[in-house]
Amino acid sequence: MNDPNGPIFYKGEYHLFYQYNPFGNEWGHMSWGHAVSRDLVRWQHLPVAIPEENGIMIFSGSTVVDWHNSSGFCRGSRADDSSCLVAIYTGYTGALQNQNVAYSNDNGRTWTKYSGNPVIDLHLQDFRDPKVFWHEGTHKWVMVTVLSSQHKVRFFGSTDLKRWTPLSDFGPAAATGGVWECPDLFELPVEGEPGQTRWVLSVNLNPGGVAGGSGDQYFIGKFDGSTFTSENSKDQVLWSDYGKDFYASTSFSDIPKSDGRRIWLGWLVNWDYAGKVPTDPWRGVQSIPRELKLKRFADGIRLMQQPVAELRNLREQHTSLERQSVVAANRLLKEKGVRGEALEIVAEIDPGGAAEVGLKVRKGPDEETVIGFDAKESKLFVDRTRSGNVGFDEKFPGRHAGPLRLAVGKSVKLQIFVDRSSVEVFVNDGETVISDGIFPTRASGGIEFYSQGGQARILKLDVWNLASVWK
Ligand code: FRU
Repeated sequence: MNDPNGPIFYKGEYHLFYQYNPFGNEWGHMSWGHAVSRDLVRWQHLPVAIPEENGIMIFSGSTVVDWHNSSGFCRGSRADDSSCLVAIYTGYTGALQNQNVAYSNDNGRTWTKYSGNPVIDLHLQDFRDPKVFWHEGTHKWVMVTVLSSQHKVRFFGSTDLKRWTPLSDFGPAAATGGVWECPDLFELPVEGEPGQTRWVLSVNLNPGGVAGGSGDQYFIGKFDGSTFTSENSKDQVLWSDYGKDFYASTSFSDIPKSDGRRIWLGWLVNWDYAGKVPTDPWRGVQSIPRELKLKRFADGIRLMQQPVAELRNLREQHTSLERQSVVAANRLLKEKGVRGEALEIVAEIDPGGAAEVGLKVRKGPDEETVIGFDAKESKLFVDRTRSGNVGFDEKFPGRHAGPLRLAVGKSVKLQIFVDRSSVEVFVNDGETVISDGIFPTRASGGIEFYSQGGQARILKLDVWNLASVWK
């Protein structure tokens, strides 16, 4: 699989579609695979939702609930319910890319491609990844697309999901060293500032990781229903993730207002080596779902990401300790036999005088994935140079770092999800995030703290072994 597509909540179920090759574990025959969940954590696989057909591949896109049958596609299940699901995706003919719709009247189980497809055709080779949402202020559907090789986002508007008119373009801006893909646009409140909101426009850059982030960049600004105005300072690049493996992020549609969260997830790989990762028979995986917030810092409003609360349902065996030196914490972890392939670790660390402090996970005799802070540079990093199988591509091994607002005398809070083939690290309630794939041997399950150049203290540590989601 590659990109997550059209995540949505509808009638008690979360749906996740994704770029999928039903015939092999390399990119090809792109179709929409499908899984459903009631809690965002345990997923059930369903048959392919929208298959490649007549030589037209089904590229990335989004879904919406057409609550009031604006499209005329909905049969309606009851007198008081005239809704259905509508998918908006890019059709790729092998030469051109255009936008298409399909609909489902049975909770996403079966889909019908609209007979009037394509709904937007600009005769372009690089025009894709439509994200559609209902814009309340101007009472219409808005579609966000990219003209990938021109580094432009193009917005369209519609009242029936079938006839679309162009609204405006945004870009080129910020990071353009590659093609632009998979845009998203949503409004969020600014934490602690009643009445203040901003719009987040996320645009993915492929190849990612060249400029120091994952490839998932975002802009903060305003959207009036037709034009996006960025308030980032010119050429400033904001990355939502500083690992190599968080790409093509897209947020859930139609999460009920009573819940109110904006949740997204991304593809936990990178096009640099996606076709080579040493897994079998599967290849490609999604990140854990993350709740998004906006917070104001001295240098501007920034995106915060936190693992969704539902992940706590996976917590099993629990170990905790408080106020220990690095040496004592390691002794206790050993005594208690704390280790595992799938763990959640929450640690509060006082770096004290240490130049570098952190922990090693998936540790074995010859393997370790290092998660640390560099106090001097004020950076968080993940080093996967010795994480396990790193030899399948020269671009894979490495150390990936992101900025950290390390206040003098303040502790640092880490929340880490370790899995069989990934680490996702959230620092200080998600102000910096690093997601990286790793391929250690299964026996490498150790955890160990380390510090260099001074004394650090582990103020608090909680470790949970996590249950399998496939039970
Ligand atoms: C991003 C992407 C999208 C495209 C899809 C094709 O990873 O290249 O732009 O729609 O993958 O699989």
